Amino acid sequence: MEALVASKEIVVVCGPGGVGKTTVAAALASMSACHQGGKVLVVTVDPARRLSQALGLGRVHSGGANRVPPEAFAAAGVTPRGELWAEMLDTKSSWDALVSRHAPDGATARRILDNSLYKNISERFVQSHDYIAVERLFELHSEGNYDLIVVDTPPTRNAVDFLLAPERMAEFFSSRLLKLLTVPYRSRLADTAARPFYYVADRVLGTKFLEDITEFFILFQTLSEGFVQRAKEVERLLADRRTTFVVVSSLETVPVREAEAFLRLLPTRGLHAGGLVLNRVLPSYMLDAALATRAEELSARAGALASELCSAGGPLAGYDPSLVERVLEELGSNFDNVTVVAKRETAQRSELSGLQAVVADVPELGEDVHDLGGVLDVGRYVWS
Ligand SMILES: Nc1ncnc2c1ncn2[C@@H]1O[C@H](COP(=O)(O)OP(=O)(O)OP(=O)(O)O)[C@@H](O)[C@H]1O
Ligand SMILES: [Mg+2]
Repeated sequence: MEALVASKEIVVVCGPGGVGKTTVAAALASMSACHQGGKVLVVTVDPARRLSQALGLGRVHSGGANRVPPEAFAAAGVTPRGELWAEMLDTKSSWDALVSRHAPDGATARRILDNSLYKNISERFVQSHDYIAVERLFELHSEGNYDLIVVDTPPTRNAVDFLLAPERMAEFFSSRLLKLLTVPYRSRLADTAARPFYYVADRVLGTKFLEDITEFFILFQTLSEGFVQRAKEVERLLADRRTTFVVVSSLETVPVREAEAFLRLLPTRGLHAGGLVLNRVLPSYMLDAALATRAEELSARAGALASELCSAGGPLAGYDPSLVERVLEELGSNFDNVTVVAKRETAQRSELSGLQAVVADVPELGEDVHDLGGVLDVGRYVWS
């Protein structure tokens, strides 16, 4: 993974929801800042609150990158060779910047930015996170301020959404839906079939709101050329050799299936899958046959062992042997259950590993990753 990251300018960390993408993105970026030096940026989408504080993002609301203070590294016991910067994706201000860039003139840009529908949805365009993330990546890369940019991707329903975002944006502008939405409000009322709908919509939403919707989409259409052009450039950047995709997954059935589909899709779209991080996996010693035998013995001989341990002079003298027996039985059978999971994980792993050259395992850590020390702990596993 270290060699992979060393040869790239952009690392896109993607994968199913909730598997640890944000954590792994922060881990890769901080390891690179520590060991490879240079200026490294991690663009994150929705870090858990404590992680965002650890990255110095707690105070930032308006976008823009923040340097993770060297003291944070010192507290984790390391002296980085380079600098780590972090930025939280700000959908609202990214949309505003896009509108201003692509609008045919200042007045149109103003009208879009002032449109009440736009104001409402640009803050809540949850699905547009995908598009904005790639957009912002493109911008940051063109500015050329960083040696490496690691991008965390949004929690989409499906990891593939992120890849298709630029293409979908381009399609949207030529869609029938957009044409329908931009039929002027007045002529809609002339349509007898649609009249009952508009009557109710008027009552519920208000004429002003309906007019705003139409105006918004009419104005939005003026952005078409710039957006489509830009979407193509963004796609080219994602497919560039300097960009690599690192897929994160756990070894549970559903995420594995999604990660597998993703790994198969990447090359068909000309994108380069560079690595696979298997997060929160069980340690390989769970598959040790000798350990399993001992666990079985523990369950089978729990009664005898308990009396021995609780006998006078034994380590548990004075304890109730029947309780100790139950604890031992429970331990043995729990080990057995976890072994079953470990075996299943091995099967899942072999399905995924065949698709990917660089595979890193990260075990379940004792606690949530909430500071730079924890991020670096994950990083050490990912790195080697
Ligand atoms: N190896 C690990 N050991 C322990 N906790 C972990 C590990 N990896 C991630 N976590 C914890 O799991 C939670 C989810 O991780 P994270 O936010 O990175 O996932 P995500 O894939 O970005 O989720 P989403 O799809 O919602 O964006 C966090 O609280 C994180 O601290
Ligand atoms: Mg996340």
